[in-house]
Amino acid sequence: MKTWAGRDILSVSQFSRDGLDDLFKVADEMKNIVEQKQSSDLCKGKLLCNLFYEPSTRTSSSFHAAMLRLGGSVMPISAETSSVKKGETLQDTVRCLECYSDVIVLRHPEIGSAKLAASYTSIPLLNAGDGAGEHPTQALLDIFTIFNEFKKVDGLTITMLGDLKNGRTVHSLARLLSLYNVKLQYVSPDFLRMPEIIQKEIKEKGIDQKEFTQLDGSLKETDILYVTRIQKERFTNMEEYKKANAMYRITPQLLEEHKFKSTIRIMHPLPRLQEISEELDNDPRAAYFRQMKCGLYVRMALLALTLGVIGTKSLSPLPGQKRINEIYETTPTKKRKKVDNNEG
Ligand code: NCD
Repeated sequence: MKTWAGRDILSVSQFSRDGLDDLFKVADEMKNIVEQKQSSDLCKGKLLCNLFYEPSTRTSSSFHAAMLRLGGSVMPISAETSSVKKGETLQDTVRCLECYSDVIVLRHPEIGSAKLAASYTSIPLLNAGDGAGEHPTQALLDIFTIFNEFKKVDGLTITMLGDLKNGRTVHSLARLLSLYNVKLQYVSPDFLRMPEIIQKEIKEKGIDQKEFTQLDGSLKETDILYVTRIQKERFTNMEEYKKANAMYRITPQLLEEHKFKSTIRIMHPLPRLQEISEELDNDPRAAYFRQMKCGLYVRMALLALTLGVIGTKSLSPLPGQKRINEIYETTPTKKRKKVDNNEG
């Protein structure tokens, strides 16, 4: 990404490692803001339109909370109660909403919908999931979580499990991880494999990928087990859904039995159904609740950057923009010990 201000976030293919480093530095600062002073006024006067055509708890509420914690306002629009019900097209809805807001977050059931919608608006549009396509902001928060858990991404073995065919989070995550020196392992029923087109793209980057149908001791080198829900809403054959849903269940016993590393981290984009036992919830290996918190910080960073209220080290700030290190200089807090001034 050459510049963040005004940019749409549609796909993980927009990102380089440098871009991720910049984003995660801002996300760290956002974490400091939330932990030490709860909120800031960086986005004061800005309005986010949260446009959701599919159910959501975490993505919609974390974007909503992110904007409120940055001092901005939020206009939530649900397809259920808007003119979408009368048959209005996505492009007309988006054209309408750009008249009232500064940034749009869109979740929609069709692959490619975010790209289409973005072509009809001049304000930044952030893809919050386009059907079984991509979920770039989830992948960004997933990698930020991995950095928080392991202090690195290079050298890790990541095993993705569940509905790898329909799960947009794993599509985006596998592709984004291919910017790092990682090993990827996929565990799914035959009929829910990671799509060939994604595997091919990742292979071209020189990343080692292996496929399995069972989670057993042959996967014990796993550092991160990324578990996903079987995506019921994308199935036409309910027998297949039931079969897949009964195949995997992560329990503390399973991790002991197959001698997984004691440092393993279990991640999940949530919502979780039966695929992770609640017995794991208070286990330090369970990172999925910490992962949700990371979502808030990364989404605060994405809003501040795309709205152009802050710039980053690798980018010259635009007129009126603040650099990351200036966030604290303009929003001082007694509790904060030192200003992180490594941005020069
Ligand atoms: C995921 C999604 O909507 O793709 N949820 C989320 O955004 N955290 C995963 C899922 O629904 O299974």
